[in-house]
Amino acid sequence: MCGIVGYIGTQQAAPLLLEGLARLEHRGYDSAGLAVLGSGLRVAKKAGRVRDLGADLPKRFTGKAGIGHTRWATHGPANDVNAHPHVDAKGDVAVVHNGIIDNAATLRQQLTDDGVDLASDTDTEVLAHLVARSTADTLEERVAEALAAIEGTYGIAVLHADFPDRIVVARNGSPLIIGVGDKEMHVASDLGALVRYTTTVAHLDDGEMATLTATGFTTYRQDLTRIAREATEVDVDPSSYDAGEHDSFMRKEMLEQPSAAERVLRGRLDERFGTGHLGGLDMDARETRAIKRVKILGCGSAYYVGQMGASLVEELARIPADAEAASEFRYRNPVIEPDTLYVAVSQSGETIDTLLAVQEIRRKGGRVIGLVNVVGSAIARECDGGIYLHAGPEVAVASTKALTNMFLGFALLALQLGRVRDLSIADGKRLIAGLSRLPEQIQEVLDGEDALADLATDLADAESLFFVGRVRGFPVAREGAQKFKEISYRHAEAYQTSELKHGPLALISPEVPTIAIVPADELTDRNVGALHEIAARGGPLVVVTHADVDLGEVPCRRIDVPRNERELDPILLTIPLQLLAFHAAQVLGHDIDKPRNLAKSVTVE
Ligand code: G6P
Repeated sequence: MCGIVGYIGTQQAAPLLLEGLARLEHRGYDSAGLAVLGSGLRVAKKAGRVRDLGADLPKRFTGKAGIGHTRWATHGPANDVNAHPHVDAKGDVAVVHNGIIDNAATLRQQLTDDGVDLASDTDTEVLAHLVARSTADTLEERVAEALAAIEGTYGIAVLHADFPDRIVVARNGSPLIIGVGDKEMHVASDLGALVRYTTTVAHLDDGEMATLTATGFTTYRQDLTRIAREATEVDVDPSSYDAGEHDSFMRKEMLEQPSAAERVLRGRLDERFGTGHLGGLDMDARETRAIKRVKILGCGSAYYVGQMGASLVEELARIPADAEAASEFRYRNPVIEPDTLYVAVSQSGETIDTLLAVQEIRRKGGRVIGLVNVVGSAIARECDGGIYLHAGPEVAVASTKALTNMFLGFALLALQLGRVRDLSIADGKRLIAGLSRLPEQIQEVLDGEDALADLATDLADAESLFFVGRVRGFPVAREGAQKFKEISYRHAEAYQTSELKHGPLALISPEVPTIAIVPADELTDRNVGALHEIAARGGPLVVVTHADVDLGEVPCRRIDVPRNERELDPILLTIPLQLLAFHAAQVLGHDIDKPRNLAKSVTVE
């Protein structure tokens, strides 16, 4: 959430920073800004997209050091003044910030009492004034002094006209990565903004600061004691951060699902013993057997796929399992049990609610593993072990390929937990065979895109829709509704099919379509019964089902997906819902990768 870039070196900073910001825009896109240090400090910032900022840069906006920011508003509306960078009254100090300063109101009041005119509504602006007021000898000391007054989370980058040879950065809860170039240094909140320039990087940890000059970087703690930090090579293909021939990242990422699924399964299917092979869990059979309960924590789509994961664990391992929104967990003073396995699930590995839940569990002595996509991210590092998802970079706000790989990660985990208990080798082998078939079956669903696009065109007209499913199908419905609402902005509500008659049936009418998840399973007949009840009230129906399911006389449009093993079917039932949401959003002319009001990584509480 909020993207930060910085550059110092031999080239003009502004074009490089704009390019970096464009790559970070999915982190926040309501306004953007730059500060460059040439003959003096100059700032340009604007509500709107990075391209608007680029089109409107003042003449001679030159300097070989600079910082930039793309914002997701927390304090104060998205306007030119609240955009970052923020500067002090004299215009000597510029600060960009990702995170939230919790004691901003108190600090703002203190500054106002001292006669400082605050220009913006933001929490960040106080930092610029605090740095400017410090009289310490070095910029590092001034920034450290300002940070000592701050409570909250931050990734920051600071420029100061009196110290033109450096950028000082600091991290506490919001990621910062330093990129080492040839006589130039970069910094960014996300690897994606760096990889075009360098793949030699160093990660900062919480509580750490760094100074970047054109020739190198130094790292230290906030008490300014030095710490050694080596930059290392990361193995990434810079083109994986481009949309290539696709008109949106979401479309690219949906289509990548078969290959992403193959990657998460590669080397992890033990066909001989019919189990999963997850080296990163770091648990032997005895420890695995001792687990009495599984608790899954995630936010948004990661929470919904966590519910699918809980079903897998209960069905395959017969261990009680449930998923909870990580954003709620910490606030109810949860009981942490020593024989519970906690699982944090996150694409970015930096969602603050999930990270704080992990920290709470570990503080109370619980064991947490991570299902995380971004290697080396905060959640991955905080966990006791885990399963990397290998989905490749995911840029669109709406999660698709990462979500699919989360499901597969849960299937592997459930298999491994099951096979040290009562899941038979025959069932283990049946599921391994099912998992091996999945990438091809996902491709089959994707191949049906044209028909789904037609259907989506009709659904896009509806102001309000229901997504319904039961048991394994309910989290599918929740994820389907989430996708639909986040990118089409239509009201989409998920419900257990069984609960419809206890309230929401009152809303069913010819104007309110229902998308029903009806797999071939032990509940098919009951589901078909509910379809009749919806049809009898004139509700238009779309049924996501299997070809061999007999829907009788129910008037509906059906979407048949390939059958796998019934435990693994939920992911195949989910894929068409991604395509429906995508095409509805496209028909409605929305910016698919950057839905309004949202951001990809939510790094504020
Ligand atoms: C945000 C995104 C969602 C995502 C959620 C969790 O809300 O808009 O698409 O599912 O964060 O993100 P994570 O990176 O933890 O999976």
